[in-house]
Amino acid sequence: MKIPPKLGLANLPTPIQEISFRGKKFLVKRDDLTGMELSGNKVRKLEYILAQAKKEKAEIVFTCGGEQSNHARATAIAASKIGMKCKLFLWGNSKTEVDGNLFLDKLTGCEISFLNRVEYLSVNEIMFEERKKLLKKGKKVYVIPEGGSTTLGIWGYITFVQELNKQIDLKKIDGIVTAAGSGGTAAGLILGSSLLKLDLKIFAVNVLYSESVIKNKIIQLVEAGNLDYQLGAKIYEDNMVILDGYSKEGYKNISKEKVKLVKSFFRQTGILLDPAYTGKAFAAFNDNFLGKNIGKVIFLHTGGLFGIFGKRKEYLIA
Ligand SMILES: Cc1ncc(COP(=O)(O)O)c(C=O)c1O
Repeated sequence: MKIPPKLGLANLPTPIQEISFRGKKFLVKRDDLTGMELSGNKVRKLEYILAQAKKEKAEIVFTCGGEQSNHARATAIAASKIGMKCKLFLWGNSKTEVDGNLFLDKLTGCEISFLNRVEYLSVNEIMFEERKKLLKKGKKVYVIPEGGSTTLGIWGYITFVQELNKQIDLKKIDGIVTAAGSGGTAAGLILGSSLLKLDLKIFAVNVLYSESVIKNKIIQLVEAGNLDYQLGAKIYEDNMVILDGYSKEGYKNISKEKVKLVKSFFRQTGILLDPAYTGKAFAAFNDNFLGKNIGKVIFLHTGGLFGIFGKRKEYLIA
């Protein structure tokens, strides 16, 4: 297996910790600790994607997401660090309070274009049109789709499985729970696991797309990655399980009930969960696995801490 080249952006390996919550013990893989400003799951993907952008001598990188996108923030910081310009296409509006990830985006000095909900549906076309314009002016642009979920980006989570397997014997583990936004993290986990011939179940908690849409996105990414890199991995679709119903309040919101759980978890463990992703994924983990005798399942903390600052009121009130 030939692993594509990458930049060194993340602090790896991230720790795997045994946590006790409400008297029950379980393992948490701390991908919130891939860094500080450059933190969370997106950094693993960006290590591969930005290496390619650099190879192609891109001067500017485009990407997109919600106004509190962790991926957009990580891209803006990483691009700045390696001397590339960055433009973000964010679903939101310029009147939004500049807090959390958006605050950090602004600090990097990157350009930001705000799109409304309907415009955001065509964000890929918008980015490619703008790229064409800049190309005509002789500027090289590298476009990163939502969440960095490309067949190159998912190498971040293919290699994650190798990293985790060195920390614990994954043959003794039944599954991993992760939040799923664009699906790349789950796709990488599935490919990584099957390449090591493990029988891990990947439990993806969909926070942005419906159950059927995210399922298709993940499967397509797994198949495309397998083909693009001629990995020859045997994929068992049954190993991908969507834990649906944990984002009924919407991607940009978090229910009072979940905030209560997040606060209780924070007070007992010192670990914070974010409103868009890990707060919802942990609610699913809590309901389905905690204290239930149904195998050993790891909770993957994918980061997202800065999103909390855009939700101060909700976190304080609950
Ligand atoms: C904190 C956090 N967790 C999980 C995810 C989901 O990752 P993916 O887009 O690869 O499904 C994201 C990004 O979307 C994220 O920012």
